[in-house]
Amino acid sequence: MTNETTIQTPKRRIHLFDTTLRDGEQAPGGSLTPEEKIRIARQLVRLGVDVIEPGFPISSPGDFAAVQAISRELQGVEICGFARAVKGDIDAAVKATADAPFRRLHLFLSSSDIHIDFQLRKSRQQVVELARSMVAYAKQFVDRIEYSPMDATRTGEEFLFEVVEAVIAEGATIINIPDTVGYAMPEEYGRLFRRVRQMVRGGDTVEYSAHCHNDLGLAVANSLAAIQAGVSYVEVTVNGVGERAGNTSLEELAMAIETRGEALGVETGIRPEEIYATSKLVSRTMHMPIAFNKPVVGRNAFQHEAGIHQDGLLKNRSTYEIMDPERLGIPRSMIILGKHSGRHALKHRALQYGVALDEAELEKLYARFKETADAQKIVTDDEFIRLIGETTESS
Ligand code: KIV
Ligand code: ZN
Repeated sequence: MTNETTIQTPKRRIHLFDTTLRDGEQAPGGSLTPEEKIRIARQLVRLGVDVIEPGFPISSPGDFAAVQAISRELQGVEICGFARAVKGDIDAAVKATADAPFRRLHLFLSSSDIHIDFQLRKSRQQVVELARSMVAYAKQFVDRIEYSPMDATRTGEEFLFEVVEAVIAEGATIINIPDTVGYAMPEEYGRLFRRVRQMVRGGDTVEYSAHCHNDLGLAVANSLAAIQAGVSYVEVTVNGVGERAGNTSLEELAMAIETRGEALGVETGIRPEEIYATSKLVSRTMHMPIAFNKPVVGRNAFQHEAGIHQDGLLKNRSTYEIMDPERLGIPRSMIILGKHSGRHALKHRALQYGVALDEAELEKLYARFKETADAQKIVTDDEFIRLIGETTESS
């Protein structure tokens, strides 16, 4: 024992920007009605996100109405109006978010050659001019302007710096560096933020946001690298829903920070106890099932089949669990009874049903159980109860 007091360094606050209702809704088949968006937005506030991007106001009257209703109802959260670098889009986003107590506008325009040449069919100079003029236009209405050079991670550094410098000069206050096609590696992505901040005139006067896609399964890792490179915002979606393989998963990032926050030196405003309810709501409303093995919220995320693991868990949960499922609003950690289960798990489950087995009964049950488990993958609780009955009757 020592008398040393440990001094806790204050953690840096990372703001979670939720785009489930905009980029997440771009998941094939995931489209939402305005009423569904409002219901999810209310839950996002309970969950503790800092920014909500509720839709793309110019895209349809329904989306305009949803963004407007959410802007009017939700207090204590920043609302983001999304727009291409086009006057009509900006006007719609300004109008739809007009009643939000706190808002920003998010403008985007591609910056990679592949997008400029094949999609925009413009010159680089035209892209810089358009970015500059649309930021200046938007700035007349809203002070907080987020600018996204789309496909930034496949844009040559020199041109990326030129675009970012131009929009900062016109008043952009938040620079998002989107990894639009999920191409970046964590180290590269972190480095890109450091380089932009260092190399761009005005780069140290703005805030930064990370926006990652999961095509290579790296969205959370890339977002963590961006956090280590100093970003203030991370753009996420519930259950990682979004275009193709989706976006950075809110619950995975939030729990990585919650679990390893000491190592990272950061924290979020997320209330873990609302995670499971939010995940369920989004999955149900979007008709998008969650993979059984999805971290944090998947059916198997807190289930244990191996006998050794079950034995360890029954002695101390931390042996095989790094998060407490009950803190996430998940009813209880489940032990799945299957061919890998050991005597200890069987005895424990029988006790949960009020049956205290003696040694001989346990041995008999164990043998019968293994036969059943070998024949099928999982032994359900109903079958288990039947086996207990048969075992104790015959002894
Ligand atoms: O993935 C992307 O590039 C986007 C931007 C428009 C921010 O969703
Ligand atoms: Zn995106």
